[in-house]
Amino acid sequence: MPYLIATCAPESAVVAHKELRRVEAAVAVDAWLDDGVALMTAPDPAAFAATLAADPPVFVRHLAPADLTVPLTGSSADITSLADAVAATYLPQIAANLALDRPWQPHAVQVRLSNRATHPYTRYALAEPLRELLAQFGPEDVRHPQQVLAVYCAAEQAYIGLWPTARCLSDWPGGERRFARTPEQISRSEFKLLEALDLFNLAWPTQGHALDLGAAPGGWTRLLVERGLTVVAVDPAALDARVAALPQVEQWRGHAETFLTGSSDVFDLVVNDMRLDARDSARLMLRAAERLRPGSPALMTLKLPQARIEPVYHRARRIFAEAYTIIGARQLFHNRSEVTLVGVR
Ligand SMILES: C[S@@+](CC[C@H](N)C(=O)[O-])C[C@H]1O[C@@H](n2cnc3c(N)ncnc32)[C@H](O)[C@@H]1O
Repeated sequence: MPYLIATCAPESAVVAHKELRRVEAAVAVDAWLDDGVALMTAPDPAAFAATLAADPPVFVRHLAPADLTVPLTGSSADITSLADAVAATYLPQIAANLALDRPWQPHAVQVRLSNRATHPYTRYALAEPLRELLAQFGPEDVRHPQQVLAVYCAAEQAYIGLWPTARCLSDWPGGERRFARTPEQISRSEFKLLEALDLFNLAWPTQGHALDLGAAPGGWTRLLVERGLTVVAVDPAALDARVAALPQVEQWRGHAETFLTGSSDVFDLVVNDMRLDARDSARLMLRAAERLRPGSPALMTLKLPQARIEPVYHRARRIFAEAYTIIGARQLFHNRSEVTLVGVR
């Protein structure tokens, strides 16, 4: 049976697997190549991935093709044998497509190495000859590729495939959306918001009034101000002094429950990263909805207990859906035991 590689957060392996089996009962895990990285068999991996991409899963972060397997020796000779195998398999396919007037789409070469094996080369060293092979068709577009040549190196075998990025559920290898740290950054949580904006392709308001529930130390508040919004930052804990000093920020020291009872402000956006039971947090989003203009976006992180990820997630999602039309839900690379939920009031 043909292969594909599915990636999720290691702690969500069971629920991610169930999620895939609900879509296609015949898919099965053949082996775990790394924590959260499953080699799966499926009757038709490309069709299966296309079905998933049309209605993306929550806990599966990334899918990669694995049409071609190449044995690895654990020596630097693997670099040449991978390049030779790719050239022999894909160059004729690409030539045939070009002959049929199917234009070459911007591509990226994405190489991953399992942490469960020791490889005597880096992923850059493996990728280099593959990049040279594909460069004849067009320049690599690492950020927004339309198709990817994906290589996953386990201990004794490399799994390779070439398919449209849309089937991968993320433009990034393994769904690992990386951001550079900046001197202005306040918290690691900022990456969660940036990743969500990118993954869900969200059109945020660039002016207006935002409500940030569970704002401290202020990373999300800072990003919202940077995008042109004024922000009411609600948290019993203090904001970082740099954020508190911003003229666009009103700090409200206390719990969201109290703020939502007292305030009569009207907002154009609400975000919520409160460290709170996911269901309680979703209930507070219903109260926040009463302060939101219709059509305004809302984003929250659902903090999920390790033991009952699925039921708590589904319950919290149903609560959130009482006031919002859900437009995206995903366990992001930067989420830890969380799911990010995005909706519109
Ligand atoms: C993960 S931190 C938020 C980080 C923030 N998004 C950032 O980028 O800096 C979670 C915050 O939720 C706050 N929190 C927990 N329960 C809350 C509640 N009931 N009301 C308001 N804030 C709450 C905590 O005090 C904590 O500061």
